[in-house]
Amino acid sequence: MYLRPVIAVLTACLAAEVRGFYLPGLAPVSYCDPTKEANKEKLEQGECRSKVELFVNRLDSVESIIPYEYDRFDFCVPTEEWAKSPTENLGQVLFGDRIRPSMYNISFLKDEKCKDLCGAKSYDPTNADQSKNLNFLKRGVLQNYQHHWIIDNMPVTWCYDVEGDRKYCNPGFPVGCYVTKKGTPKDACVINPLYNEKDTYYLFNHVDIFISYNDGEGENWPGARLLSAKLEPKSINHPKPGECPEDRPLGLPGSKADKVHFNYTYSVEFVLQNGHKWASRWDYILDSMPHTNIQWFSIMNSLVIVLFLSGMVAMILLRTLHKDIARYNQMESALEAEEAQEEFGWKLVHGDIFRPPGAPMLLAMLLGTGSQIIMSVVVTLVFACLGFLSPANRGALMTCVIILYVCLGTPAGYVSARMYKTFGGERWKTNVLMTSFLVQGVVFGVFFMMNLVLWVEGSSAAIPFSTLIALLALWFCVSVPLTFIGAYFGFKKRPIEHPVRTNQIPRQIPEQSFYTKPLPGIIMGGVLPFGCIFIQLFFILNSIWSHQIYYMFGFLFLSGLTRSTTCLVSCSY
Ligand SMILES: *[C@@H]1O[C@H](CO)[C@@H](O)[C@H](O)[C@H]1NC(C)=O
Ligand SMILES: *[C@@H]1O[C@H](CO)[C@@H](O)[C@H](O)[C@H]1NC(C)=O
Repeated sequence: MYLRPVIAVLTACLAAEVRGFYLPGLAPVSYCDPTKEANKEKLEQGECRSKVELFVNRLDSVESIIPYEYDRFDFCVPTEEWAKSPTENLGQVLFGDRIRPSMYNISFLKDEKCKDLCGAKSYDPTNADQSKNLNFLKRGVLQNYQHHWIIDNMPVTWCYDVEGDRKYCNPGFPVGCYVTKKGTPKDACVINPLYNEKDTYYLFNHVDIFISYNDGEGENWPGARLLSAKLEPKSINHPKPGECPEDRPLGLPGSKADKVHFNYTYSVEFVLQNGHKWASRWDYILDSMPHTNIQWFSIMNSLVIVLFLSGMVAMILLRTLHKDIARYNQMESALEAEEAQEEFGWKLVHGDIFRPPGAPMLLAMLLGTGSQIIMSVVVTLVFACLGFLSPANRGALMTCVIILYVCLGTPAGYVSARMYKTFGGERWKTNVLMTSFLVQGVVFGVFFMMNLVLWVEGSSAAIPFSTLIALLALWFCVSVPLTFIGAYFGFKKRPIEHPVRTNQIPRQIPEQSFYTKPLPGIIMGGVLPFGCIFIQLFFILNSIWSHQIYYMFGFLFLSGLTRSTTCLVSCSY
């Protein structure tokens, strides 16, 4: 009976800690009406702003793995200001964010109606360049590429009804929608029943932007603050300037060689919403995501798996030990036991348990790198749980992981060197070099190859050359020296003392049953931890690949704990 409120409170704690907590760099921006005489001075002194800047980001799609920059499509692009993009941190660049200025000219409290963005775009099929541009645009519509816009450091969302009287707010909206030759509309076309012509591309060339704000009345702020930015994409074939009738959609035929021309337009409406707090302005996006129940299910799921596994291991241990102890007890005196000389059962293991493995170098190196990864993940999660890496702080998560990983080279070197020494290894130079370069080299190699492919495809996800150099510099100038320092201390220490001696002669390994052979063992050992984490994994991969916002670090932390327990327990089989 008391479980529900407890769960509710826990959910609130876990989900809410990132809300309402902002770092100094993410301070709120005040806006004021430039038409009012009283605000002139404030505007001049920079106390408030009148221009509401709209930034565009790269476009991506779940149906295609390659994101493209905004200017790759033939949209309206401010050619001069394009280079003046806001600075991006390392994490943003690596994750493929490409934030650029746009031509949408929005002034605070100035509503616009069907305003032309950059004049007419015309496509003549006899012109090779123009038909190429049009085809690329159509391909974007077909593959459901999504815009991601930013106003006042917030995603511009497209909210629509989903089943069960709920609204889902998507931090992006599609380029357009396609109705197939059979007449079945693809996802986004259902927003308007008029988008129904067969084999037609409906381009969303008009957006209605709604910006809600709190004018600071009754709050101790100096000006107005923006609370949300929502939009509705529309496809409109304009009859004449300044008119945006919704019943005339702009359908581009799938296969016809006619000349087409259209304009991009936009409307802006400012909505006063006093009583809403600036600090909780992200809530409406996060609340519309149907995550929380699934998260609890995932935690319960992994807890059950952990309990089940621990029970199994305990039972097996008990049974084995019980048999062995009974056999020892059967020998009447200690003398007899000593005479018997030969040990049996689980005690036999002690003579071999600390025997150095066949490939001490590889194991020591992997242990070192593994401890580096685990430490950086744990520290990042702690930061994230404390709210430092909230989604408002774009790119902070990735930057944090990378910087921590690079700085934690010392523990990696130390663990690797100490273990290698304990295993009796002597080639310490090779060990240090392997620890600094092998895993990182493989990861960087794969990354570089993928980047090469993206670069050839003209995708925006390809990182610029300067970022590549920065990454290499971080690796060679920070990570490698730190690893060497760690290794120096690791080798100076005495090797770890084992509590029991290792026998001179290795014991014969008994005939193995099917399931203790390496391959089945690896598969069975991996299935259970995977079962524990797949829901979290789903959300994380979604946030990496399809621009969803990931913010439930509390849940991630919990499920990380249960997952490591599962791994430990599975390993002890
Ligand atoms: C944007 O709008 C403001 C006022 O509405 C106007 O003064 C300014 O010239 C416009 N800027 C551009 C680039 O069109
Ligand atoms: C489209 O752009 C042209 C200029 O290129 C302009 O004359 C026309 O009025 C615009 N149409 C709309 C609906 O804004």
